[in-house]
Amino acid sequence: MSHATTDESVRALAGALARARHIAVLTGAGVSAESGIRTFRDTMEGLWKEFDPATLATPRAFARDPGTVSRWYDHRRLGCLAAEPNAAHNALAELERRTLARAGRFTLITQNVDRLHQRAGSRSVVELHGSIIEWRCTITGRRTTPPAKPLPAFPPPSPFHPEGLLRPDVVWFGEMLPESAVEAADEAARACDLFLSIGTSSVVYPAAGFIELAHDHGARVAEINPDATPLSSRAAWTIREKAGVALPGIVAAMPA
Ligand SMILES: NC(=O)c1ccc[n+]([C@@H]2O[C@H](COP(=O)([O-])OP(=O)(O)OC[C@H]3O[C@@H](n4cnc5c(N)ncnc54)[C@H](O)[C@@H]3O)[C@@H](O)[C@H]2O)c1
Repeated sequence: MSHATTDESVRALAGALARARHIAVLTGAGVSAESGIRTFRDTMEGLWKEFDPATLATPRAFARDPGTVSRWYDHRRLGCLAAEPNAAHNALAELERRTLARAGRFTLITQNVDRLHQRAGSRSVVELHGSIIEWRCTITGRRTTPPAKPLPAFPPPSPFHPEGLLRPDVVWFGEMLPESAVEAADEAARACDLFLSIGTSSVVYPAAGFIELAHDHGARVAEINPDATPLSSRAAWTIREKAGVALPGIVAAMPA
């Protein structure tokens, strides 16, 4: 692990980003924290304080109490729609533009379901855990994007099938991740030469496994997170700052 100061790490990482052939980025809930969207462990407040997220974010919880689970997800959906991308989202969109402009490759893998990367202008986004902005029919699987106001009923009836309900198009604990997203993330982790891990606690698998995969295939890893994680020891550069502070500085320090 690097023992350089943050300034030295920022300069070295900025130089490496400007030269990398293929940059892969993995983001977690920490990237959206500065947009006011709480990380999972912090979401349980007010109305929801008696619930454990791990017991709401499961297919079993939805089968047992679809009204409560859909109401909780709708509350979070509206929070995501009301939020704005922050300086970290914007800096990642700028990094993608600059990388593509010099004919490099760029893949942004996110565990976030809030769509803020896309709203900031990122193009090649791989959504590992789906999206809370879209909901899907429990029977037909058809997707819809509900308007930015509370759903009319909990649980919401499906517009696509008389016996169906709408559920958020997110991956719940115990469910498979979308195959195409896993394949795209796997390919990027193996092929990239620089892997940035930002705002993720690196304890949720398989997402955390992509950091290990990239490292094992020879990529240099950088971690941006105020706290250490189980995978910090794999990182050539660790930047212990908030993403919205660190990323604009790193992009600004990149040689033209
Ligand atoms: N915004 C979203 O879409 C959102 C929000 C909450 C949860 N989730 C879902 O729940 C899963 C688990 O959630 P989780 O909260 O444990 O996420 P996580 O496992 O990705 O942990 C959050 C990490 O962010 C770090 N962090 C906090 N503030 C930060 C900042 N300003 N800059 C950089 N890093 C910061 C924390 O130290 C922690 O390591 C996610 O993978 C996701 O699928 C999504």
